Amino acid sequence: MHPYHDRRQRLTQLIRERGGGVAVIATAPEVIRNRDAHYPYRWDSYFYYLTGFTEPEAVLVLSVDGSGAESRLFCRDKNEEREIWDGYRFGPQLAREKFGFDHALSIDKLDEELPRLLADRPAIFSAIGADSAHDARIARWLNSVRGQARAGVSAPAQVFEIRSLVDDMRLIKDSHEIDIMRRAADISAAAHVRAMRASRPGRFEFELEAELEHEFRMGGSKAPAYGSIVASGRHACVLHYRANDARLTEGELLLIDAGCELDGYASDITRTFPVSGRFSGAQRTLYDIVLEAQQAAIAATRPGMRFIDPHNAAVKVLAQGLIDCGLISGPLDTAIESGAYRRFYMHRTGHWLGMDVHDCGDYREPGEPATGSEKPWRILRPGMVITEEPGLYVRAADDIPRHFHDIGIRIEDDALVTESGCEILTGKVPKAANDIEALMQS
Ligand code: GLY
Ligand code: MN
Ligand code: MN
Repeated sequence: MHPYHDRRQRLTQLIRERGGGVAVIATAPEVIRNRDAHYPYRWDSYFYYLTGFTEPEAVLVLSVDGSGAESRLFCRDKNEEREIWDGYRFGPQLAREKFGFDHALSIDKLDEELPRLLADRPAIFSAIGADSAHDARIARWLNSVRGQARAGVSAPAQVFEIRSLVDDMRLIKDSHEIDIMRRAADISAAAHVRAMRASRPGRFEFELEAELEHEFRMGGSKAPAYGSIVASGRHACVLHYRANDARLTEGELLLIDAGCELDGYASDITRTFPVSGRFSGAQRTLYDIVLEAQQAAIAATRPGMRFIDPHNAAVKVLAQGLIDCGLISGPLDTAIESGAYRRFYMHRTGHWLGMDVHDCGDYREPGEPATGSEKPWRILRPGMVITEEPGLYVRAADDIPRHFHDIGIRIEDDALVTESGCEILTGKVPKAANDIEALMQS
């Protein structure tokens, strides 16, 4: 079945279980960059997940009662003049046929139709607080229905946050999504291989960024899923380094955290390699600790484990490695409990990945925890996708041996939880130190 239609049906069922009502899901607004130039348009992830429709100025409305449901798309009309300037628009009639809605109407009819659709319905389901213009529009429609009270019309008495329903759906990827995420991962892997091959002292970080983006675009991706991080030497210790303007220097490491977005789905890969193709002894020592930590995290990624387990597995290896290098003191339990390792490893080992690079979905199990206890971490289930991204970041300091100064290392792959363990989607780019050296020298 059409994946978007299938998702609307599943959402319909969730709304019905909550007593029915009307769901209103708008796509993202266009945003001006400066004067007449817009930022590249990126539709809203929730809206796209349920429609597959990529034009701006569009709203999906699902009307659900005990037995039936109707889907309505509001979208831009066809407009010869605007299509000459800006490009093709489906218009309601074609959009309805192609995307399989029960009805489609002009977006210009939204304010007229919504009070009618909301009349005598028990609840409205929408994203509340995501966009103040959307919030104001919902308030206007509700007030317009309330204004008909003396005519015997009742307004929805309940407002539900729809994102929490869709988040739980998006957390488990369907086969359509997994197929796209595999392809996105392949393109990003090829981009990292290209960047490794192109690295040499004297080049600039932005030149390697251009190599990555060349591969993304040639693979059919429209854009990176997030700002590419190309960080050489000490810049690798800046976790969200953005400048990408330093010159690559002999003897330094280069950390690249970059992934393309393909058909709305993110990939997220980090590799760290020596600018000139050979690790120094100290670099290699720390690198192998991070790699072992990642292997431990991946081994802890399987159904039944909790979201935090891969992180805890990675922290154990990292902390032991730091003790072995003399960067923190043992014993291991104390180093972990005291958080001493956090000076060199200050982030989590993973996050959900999907349409958004830091994808939606609660990291804790739904429902109320037992009184006095924390909500337990989410149990991993087949179809979830998480990143595995341990790192070590050693800034120069008086109490740190010089050979460890300014070494920042992260290794990041994307893992799909399967029935028996996990599948690494991003495995086509080498990460064992020997394999990286071999690739760079070939
Ligand atoms: N590139 C963002 C992250 O790794 O979380
Ligand atoms: Mn990540
Ligand atoms: Mn990343």
